[in-house]
Amino acid sequence: MESIIIRKAEPSDMEGAIALIGNQILSSPLFLQPARNAFLSLGTDGEAVLAVCDEKIVGAAIARKGLHYSNGKDNYFEQMKKDYPASEFWTLLDVAVDNDYQGRHIGSRLFRKMFEVLRSHGCGTVLMEIWIRANGYKPASNLIHLADSFHEYGVIDDFYQDDPFPCDFCKGECHCKALVGIAEI
Ligand SMILES: CC(C)(COP(=O)(O)OP(=O)(O)OC[C@H]1O[C@@H](n2cnc3c(N)ncnc32)[C@H](O)[C@@H]1OP(=O)(O)O)[C@@H](O)C(=O)NCCC(=O)NCCS
Repeated sequence: MESIIIRKAEPSDMEGAIALIGNQILSSPLFLQPARNAFLSLGTDGEAVLAVCDEKIVGAAIARKGLHYSNGKDNYFEQMKKDYPASEFWTLLDVAVDNDYQGRHIGSRLFRKMFEVLRSHGCGTVLMEIWIRANGYKPASNLIHLADSFHEYGVIDDFYQDDPFPCDFCKGECHCKALVGIAEI
């Protein structure tokens, strides 16, 4: 079986990682911009870890310092800051694994590696937005247990609807939701 290497990303990995996220989540350039911004500040305000097989990027997880949703809404941020007053927050923006490689614990390995990298920044609290597709499927929900704890704040309806980009899954007006919470790592 091929060996999969999990490693921190280099700036030159950006286009490959963004292409994977665009294929697996949403392809709109506006949706992908925060991940690009994280890549442009790798090691300071951004972090990315990759799964690589024979030099091909088959998995990626991307995080950005601070509290951000990929849609710019901020419904729970004030409450989060009150609940974790001494915290260094980071936001896990995206996690994606190529279809042919899913179900082989690559997503889990990416999460563990990303948590290790974020802890090295002094971060113990990670904002997660778990995408709930229009059909109710939550692809990343099976990864939450890798955190020490997960404090669920709520579900934001029509998460992307205010934004001008169409949803690949709803094929038009977007009714995808997001489950929002803080993971302690
Ligand atoms: C979410 C995602 C990154 C998970 O990656 P993965 O490499 O398949 O995940 P893993 O193999 O580490 O699986 C993690 C757990 O989920 C379980 N799992 C994986 N796929 C599953 C499925 N289709 N149905 C049920 N359970 C599943 C695994 O058994 C594993 O459980 P375990 O730890 O108890 O063994 C991947 O499904 C993906 O890229 N989805 C599309 C992009 C996306 O939606 N990203 C999330 C945006 S918030």
